[in-house]
Amino acid sequence: MASANSLLNPISIIEKKKAGETHTREEIHWLVQGAASGAVRTYQVSAWLMAACIQGLNMRETLWLTEAFVDSGLVLTYPQRPEGVVVVDKHSTGGVGDKVSLLLMPLLAAVPGVYVAKLAGHGLGMTGGTIDKVEAIPGFRTRFLAHEFVDQLSKFGLVLGQTCHDLAPVEKMFYDIRDVTATVDSIPLIASSVMSKKIATGSDVIILDVKCGRGAFMRSTEEGRLLAELCQQLAAHFGKRMVTVLSKMDSPIGKAVGLALEVEEVYQVLHNRGKDAPTDLLELTLKLGSLLLKESGLAATEVEGYHKLLEALESGKGYETFRRWLVAQGVDADEVGSDGWLPQSDRVLMVPAAATGYVGDIDALKLMEVMHLVGSARNTMDDSLEYGAGVMLHKQVGDAVTIGETIAELHCDAKSQIAATQFLKEAFTIIDAPVAYDPHALILEILPPVKPLASGAS
Ligand code: URA
Repeated sequence: MASANSLLNPISIIEKKKAGETHTREEIHWLVQGAASGAVRTYQVSAWLMAACIQGLNMRETLWLTEAFVDSGLVLTYPQRPEGVVVVDKHSTGGVGDKVSLLLMPLLAAVPGVYVAKLAGHGLGMTGGTIDKVEAIPGFRTRFLAHEFVDQLSKFGLVLGQTCHDLAPVEKMFYDIRDVTATVDSIPLIASSVMSKKIATGSDVIILDVKCGRGAFMRSTEEGRLLAELCQQLAAHFGKRMVTVLSKMDSPIGKAVGLALEVEEVYQVLHNRGKDAPTDLLELTLKLGSLLLKESGLAATEVEGYHKLLEALESGKGYETFRRWLVAQGVDADEVGSDGWLPQSDRVLMVPAAATGYVGDIDALKLMEVMHLVGSARNTMDDSLEYGAGVMLHKQVGDAVTIGETIAELHCDAKSQIAATQFLKEAFTIIDAPVAYDPHALILEILPPVKPLASGAS
């Protein structure tokens, strides 16, 4: 790409960030446009990302990066929506077994007056992305041009797509490179990635769940709060209404960890109308949804929002909406929920408890290692995923166990089974006395709103 400013070239931009200097708005926009046109090569984007990851980006640089990602595509609007309908969006920064978005989307869409529009990404680092999960469903389409995405929402009131073509395309490019270059865990890079997708989607109200703990990018609550506040600043700058929550991610959410296994778990929760659903999964889903309904003005209180979602679940409307959604996005109606509708692994191994006692801990980080070993997460941009692989937990934190009893199932192929079984065993800590574990208490904080910072020109 020809530059008006002869000093703008990929090498000088990389050098500048490597030296810990601050970019101008023009430099950041130039870099992003250059990545889009090919003038800035993938390896140069990788080098810049590593420099940015190590040296950081300040608030303004983060804002310009977000703006440049958004400008690389279109910002959606929904003029066709019926009077009074609110378009909402839910995002999680990613955690182990975190399938809350998949469960919450149809429940929200089953509530009168709600449309749900979400742009998401593939898995990052070792957490499975929502897009990878739905791509485990044969036929599920996630690539939409902007006008198709809007059309889909107008027809069905619920749409999930990935950043591509004319929807924040450069965010997708940076995201895919970060995933395989150890440049994921940077607060400004995560904030610009998340918020550019939320802004491009053009929803009215967003709920953002920032995961904190050993199974998340943000290991501590303090780091999580920094990320959350940065996202809030960006939301405020772009005039977005957003509820921001910090939640715990030390142990997996629900029982399934793995792409198709998580889809099946969501399907079962909806199909069984919430009966026997894992408490942590259900409570977090309902709580986040009720906050969103309240912020959207569709519920006067959180309690009312909670009851609307519970009604959607227990009446079976959430299940019907889920089925219609899958079909609307390309899945064969006869296949949804049928035997073998989702990919399965070659083998299923039962992992026994090593001692009698109580499950004191299930280490989400160890489970992330298992996911890598069994092929649920990528090592290179071209890696294909083992959609059927993963873990089904038979026991959760606080449960009593007897030596030899099955604590988990490992779904894998022959080549990964030995190492993955070892990591899976190590994920469980069995102790003598019961632990206090409250599956209702995953939410750590609900952040107060912030005022936007001025962006400035340089
Ligand atoms: N989720 C995103 O969308 N982007 C990130 O960088 C991390 C989590």
